Amino acid sequence: MLIHSARQLLTFAGGPQRGKALGNPGIIEDGALLIRGEQIADVGTTADLLAKYPTEPRLDARGKVVMPGFVDPHTHLVFAGDRAVEFEMRLQGKTYLEILQAGGGILSTVRATRSASLETLVALAAERAGVMLRHGTTTAEAKTGYGLEWQSELRQMEALLRLDELNRLEIHPTFLAAHAIPEEYRDTPNEYVDQICNMMLPELRRWWIRHANARPLPFVDVFCERGAFTLPQSRRILETARALGFPLKIHADEFENLGAAGMAMELGAVSVDHLVKTSPEEIERLGTSQTVAVSLPCTPFGLAESEYTPARAILEANGILALASDFNPGTAWCGNMQFVIALACRYLKLTPAQAIAAATINAAAAIRQEHRIGSLEVGKQADVLILSVDDYRHLGYRFGVNLVEQVIKRGKVMK
Ligand code: NIG
Ligand code: FE
Repeated sequence: MLIHSARQLLTFAGGPQRGKALGNPGIIEDGALLIRGEQIADVGTTADLLAKYPTEPRLDARGKVVMPGFVDPHTHLVFAGDRAVEFEMRLQGKTYLEILQAGGGILSTVRATRSASLETLVALAAERAGVMLRHGTTTAEAKTGYGLEWQSELRQMEALLRLDELNRLEIHPTFLAAHAIPEEYRDTPNEYVDQICNMMLPELRRWWIRHANARPLPFVDVFCERGAFTLPQSRRILETARALGFPLKIHADEFENLGAAGMAMELGAVSVDHLVKTSPEEIERLGTSQTVAVSLPCTPFGLAESEYTPARAILEANGILALASDFNPGTAWCGNMQFVIALACRYLKLTPAQAIAAATINAAAAIRQEHRIGSLEVGKQADVLILSVDDYRHLGYRFGVNLVEQVIKRGKVMK
């Protein structure tokens, strides 16, 4: 299939965009793209490609923007129930951490998720994945973390693999048993940490090798925060995971700075996520680290808070910045990366080109997939969006509407 006559074809070619290099869209005006099977076979101007491939079936993108599919590198897609009542409580003055400490928050989603069957979890997640796909996300990372006990965490992991097999969204799974201290361990949190380190992580590794068809090991993530896991507990979990060969992620500095970002960089984490309360020293360190800084602007927005990731400082320091939705039932029930970009332009002060690069090629780097997806380059997987607008800056500028007209995943038209 030859997509041709795009008003702007954004390639984002050349790999992840670090620091002030962020925001190079690699535009081809009157651009064209050849897809063969699941892959991008050629990229160039319409004149060149129409001449080279005269008999190829065509798709006319006249007056439109063609760009890579969004990659969403931080979501909590698999859960049952909702927290609409807590949303109302927060509007009346209760804070997110107060609700968690009172046994609600993540723990209330844990109760609903533990009692849901695998089939129910897959069906709920598949519906959410469908909405994300129609809004332009072609790949997402997704976490467990609402089980907090082995069988239930494993069921969430199975749901993620099933979701991936449905071939809608491509899913890259993360094991987040360290999302909260379960009620059973309220007074003995270190015993839960023992449980994760001594039983769950080794068991997960064995299970994975038997069941996951030679897929690389999933990420292991920890919510390092007051009321969740302390810095020493987080370090123990991540060090154990690293020794078993798992790639690492962390929830750092969402509400308070416990030193999680620096610790995770030291351990070679693939990404550090949230980064609202990150210190100047840690920001400086991001500039020389391969660890990707993932900002989740839907979360402060969802909590009606005024502080966001200091994205400009991260770019100034030469860090690799990515954007994600944080789709979850507590703080941000939103998997629309177009809305994430709109928030990032306003509150992170990114240009549309910077925000889009952070949501495509850099987001791919946040899940170690930058060699396969995130840009329109020969040999990469054909994950392509056609927007209903003639200038990419409408992404960010407009919000609350869906500008994605067509979605192509692995060379197949999905929308
Ligand atoms: O990334 N902070 C921890 N985890 C999620 C929220 C999960 C929830 O509240 O259910 C986050 O914001
Ligand atoms: Fe999260």
